[in-house]
Amino acid sequence: MEVKRIALIPGDGIGKEVIPEGVKVLKAAAEAEGFKLEFTNFDFGADRYLRDNGHLIDDDELEELKKYDAIYLGAVGDPRVPAGVLEHGILLKLRFDLDLYLNLRPIKLFDEKYCPLKNKTTADIDFTVIRENTEDLYISAGGFLRKGTPQEIATQEMIATRFGVERAIRYAFEEARRINKKKTVALCDKSNVLTYAHNLWLRAFNEIGEEYPDIKKEHYYVDAICMKMVRSPEIFDVIVTPNMFGDIITDLGAEIQGGMGTAVSGNVNPNGISMFEPVHGSAPDIAGQGIANPIAAILSAAQMMDVLGFETASKKIEKAVIRAMEEKETTKDMGGTLNTAQAGDVIAKFVKEA
Ligand code: NAI
Ligand code: MG
Repeated sequence: MEVKRIALIPGDGIGKEVIPEGVKVLKAAAEAEGFKLEFTNFDFGADRYLRDNGHLIDDDELEELKKYDAIYLGAVGDPRVPAGVLEHGILLKLRFDLDLYLNLRPIKLFDEKYCPLKNKTTADIDFTVIRENTEDLYISAGGFLRKGTPQEIATQEMIATRFGVERAIRYAFEEARRINKKKTVALCDKSNVLTYAHNLWLRAFNEIGEEYPDIKKEHYYVDAICMKMVRSPEIFDVIVTPNMFGDIITDLGAEIQGGMGTAVSGNVNPNGISMFEPVHGSAPDIAGQGIANPIAAILSAAQMMDVLGFETASKKIEKAVIRAMEEKETTKDMGGTLNTAQAGDVIAKFVKEA
């Protein structure tokens, strides 16, 4: 029997509540499909940071994580720890040190009643944003001069490398081919204003695009793509974009697909380990109440199964989630009455029946 080893990082707040539900559903899917998943828990997050003199993740632990087939993460962030410490020290560290250079964010509406747009169907909202995940404004290049004085200067530099841009763009074209739907890749940038970094993106996109004559190429400035995502989301198939714009447009995407409760994110290195997580954070405002919606975490588990090659298991989880939405067997934020564990139980049961 095929066995995959999954490293669990539940993290903080509702991360610790939704990851067990994802594990429940994964076990049901593996049993139904005849493979085995082994889970190991890692307690990175606020509790350990506070207990253990500010310990975040060390090099040995990073090496240990590389032995797994995938990482399944809840969320980090806790009001007892200064903002950014856990997010930088754990989440961004994993993304950078494991070279998780692709952030895959499917934008998919599963049930029309959750869509805030008029007259859009599940067929209309179904595309993938591929966000470059290791460069751009996120690499902490910059600094202060005369900090705290009236003459203060702060800089934050946007970095694009041909290597980094090319591997994201190439993956986008391959993905459009693999999913074989509209066979279109759209570049989202602001090359009319960011005439260096995004000019590199545009040139790389056009050059690499020539190697994919079967795939249609489109190009939108980031402001225009926001209008299109609201007005005509049905035109999109695969969108590729730099790190910062990817962060922003996928929040818009999350809303048109039904909200944070449904938004998933895969941090992928096709040649190494990948990490899957719901887009939402640790939600300290509702943590500990057992009311968090586990669907985003469960759909992240489905994405993990897809990337690990268990496509049928992934589809079964998706189908089970769709059924739970149809039957309103959900938490309060999606109009149901269930608590987190009950919502997970229902989806695990539907997976077995799928
Ligand atoms: P958040 O996503 O945690 O919460 C935003 C709002 O959505 C809150 O009202 C929350 O109750 C609600 N919400 C989020 N997930 C939900 C779920 N599954 N079910 C029901 N309601 C849900 O974002 P916020 O408040 O900006 O950040 C809280 C903490 O999480 C911060 O420390 C932040 O840095 C961290 N964070 C971590 C992320 C990660 O680890 N990937 C991503 C985003 C934020
Ligand atoms: Mg974000």
